[in-house]
Amino acid sequence: MAVRLGFVGTGGIANRHLTCAQGHEDMEIVATCDVVPQRAEEAAEKYGGTPYQDVVEMLDAEAPDALVICTPPFAHGDIEEEAASRGIHFFVEKPVAISMAMAERVLAAVREHDIITQVGYMFRLSPPIVAVQRMLSERAIGMVQAHYYMPGLPNKGWWPKMEMGGGQLVEQATHMLDLGRFLAGDVRTVIGKTATVRDWTPPADYEEPEKGLVAYKEGFEIPDATALILEYESGAMGTLSCSLVPQVKWDNGFKVVAEGALVTIDGPSASWENEDGEFEEQAPDNWADAVLVEFVNAVMGEAEATIPYEEGVRSLAISLAGYESVERGNAPVEIAEILPEGL
Ligand SMILES: NC(=O)c1ccc[n+]([C@@H]2O[C@H](COP(=O)([O-])OP(=O)(O)OC[C@H]3O[C@@H](n4cnc5c(N)ncnc54)[C@H](O)[C@@H]3O)[C@@H](O)[C@H]2O)c1
Repeated sequence: MAVRLGFVGTGGIANRHLTCAQGHEDMEIVATCDVVPQRAEEAAEKYGGTPYQDVVEMLDAEAPDALVICTPPFAHGDIEEEAASRGIHFFVEKPVAISMAMAERVLAAVREHDIITQVGYMFRLSPPIVAVQRMLSERAIGMVQAHYYMPGLPNKGWWPKMEMGGGQLVEQATHMLDLGRFLAGDVRTVIGKTATVRDWTPPADYEEPEKGLVAYKEGFEIPDATALILEYESGAMGTLSCSLVPQVKWDNGFKVVAEGALVTIDGPSASWENEDGEFEEQAPDNWADAVLVEFVNAVMGEAEATIPYEEGVRSLAISLAGYESVERGNAPVEIAEILPEGL
């Protein structure tokens, strides 16, 4: 029998998960929900299900087996609690929350109601990255060098606002911070420095593109270039560089130096060299679907959801520690200071 899925937040990324669900016989789209009713209606028309504007109404009326949450960083907390309290499992897009207080509240509800959760850190399940992780797990790691460069700002009202999007570290470079944990284990301390290297005020003659990233935005208030130094619990060192400065293409990935091996990760694909030779693996076209597929399999009792909510909270802590370090004049911040007790 198919798992009955509700979707909340039917903006950009929801389309990927709705398309995935539509293509899988064991997933049934029963409802779509968005605070902008037209978005829920358009999604329902395109992918199926009944549209709602209010998530509580949707959960009560449809009682889905699981909820797919694709709301922006500031719009978490209540939605997850409403699902958990009804015993409804959830998949949530990264970042899990905009603050640790919000994440802690949800974590308590997840634990109390013992539901299955999964966070949308899809790079972890790309086959080349799984192979790299396996290879690295047998070696001492020396350096984990990560970057996330995007060629401009997503044109969404919440993105350039710190209190809504959380800044690039929380909202997006979290992918690399999470993958660093997957490859090299937990982080102990973080030192951060941020900058705004350009003026984002739109020139008088600037015409926003109809689609895609923008080069200027009124009210832009987040750093556009950030550097972190990470100390892993294993003793390995790491760095993260990220930038929003408009340039020519998206580029995210890693160089990982380990005993006897050098790894390059480019998006979901990887190449590496070790004593056995040189290897190069491309991710399959549908690599990004695996994270939702695995969650649904877990709901059916056929697999484990390998990126549960706790993992999202641990990765969020690194981003928050980076900004906290900036607040403290670039002093090192211990992850243990940021994480809730017991994690
Ligand atoms: N894993 C990935 O590769 C990936 C890619 C893009 C976005 N994301 C993440 O997905 C999240 C959403 O990003 P997006 O680009 O789709 O944003 P978006 O702004 O395009 O869509 C978010 C939608 O949520 C709706 N919404 C806001 N508050 C709501 C609420 N309380 N109840 C119901 N609906 C609500 C908005 O109206 C909007 O339609 C972000 O956290 C982002 O980081 C992940």
